[in-house]
Amino acid sequence: MTDCTHADTTINTQNTLNPGVIKMNNSLNQNQQADVFSSLMHSRRSVRKYDQTANFDHDAVARALALTTLSPNSSNMQLWEFHRVISDDKRITLASYCMGQNAAKTANELVAFVVTPYKWKERAAMNANQIREAFDGREDETSKRALKYYEKLIPFVYNNDRFGLFGLARKAISYFLGRNKPMVREVSKADLRVCLHKSSSLAAMTFMTAMRAEGYDTCPMEGFDSTRTKQLLGLPNTAEITMIISCGKRLEEGIYGDRHRVDNQDVIINH
Ligand SMILES: Cc1cc2nc3c(=O)[nH]c(=O)nc-3n(C[C@H](O)[C@H](O)[C@H](O)COP(=O)(O)O)c2cc1C
Repeated sequence: MTDCTHADTTINTQNTLNPGVIKMNNSLNQNQQADVFSSLMHSRRSVRKYDQTANFDHDAVARALALTTLSPNSSNMQLWEFHRVISDDKRITLASYCMGQNAAKTANELVAFVVTPYKWKERAAMNANQIREAFDGREDETSKRALKYYEKLIPFVYNNDRFGLFGLARKAISYFLGRNKPMVREVSKADLRVCLHKSSSLAAMTFMTAMRAEGYDTCPMEGFDSTRTKQLLGLPNTAEITMIISCGKRLEEGIYGDRHRVDNQDVIINH
């Protein structure tokens, strides 16, 4: 487990205000680690109003983002960027693009989770190089297969034209091949977008959990003007913003009601 020695130890298993931060280190046994994780999950809430008088350590965001980059992601392509909006003027502007939501207006920092499909070539090359180094000139089947993945299959799936025609062709191929054997069906341009947003969303969850471990709160937001936000952040049109996460210290009144979830039995299905 990661050693976050910057934080002191306060584990609050309540679903309410957590005044402290949570320290994790290797001295925790399995049960304690499970308790810490459980407490993070229970105490994370979407906070719509932050305490603007509380101290906010922007370095905590940096630490949380460093952990965020460790999130699982499709084919390790890491087609994501995390745009921190810290300065007052940009933060206020971005809050207005978040439709003036309190969760954005009262935040100390906003972080945009962005996917960058246009970087696929450099990331495929990076992975291929990494494999070449790892296998160090080996010519066996495993190393060939690993290289082929990044040199042939990834380009085949990630290469898209503006109108998604390549993707339609891939879909047709997948359909025909899939008649006789198991086949990945999600190969269209739209499927690739979903794929990138899946990875980015997992990163977002890591970030929110890490922020909770730092004693801070977050709110994921998809209610924002993506066109204006891209301009503000200097992003190209082909970038997409998965969500914007606001950060701060919760006010009790910033949690809009008790948490409610449907019954586990309705969503956890055993086969
Ligand atoms: C992808 C996504 C988008 C969301 N967008 C917003 C938003 O724009 N504004 C907001 O106040 N909450 C937003 N939420 C927060 C949800 O409303 C919240 O997670 C849900 O009500 C459950 O509450 P909890 O997070 O406190 O457990 C979003 C959550 C997710 C995962």
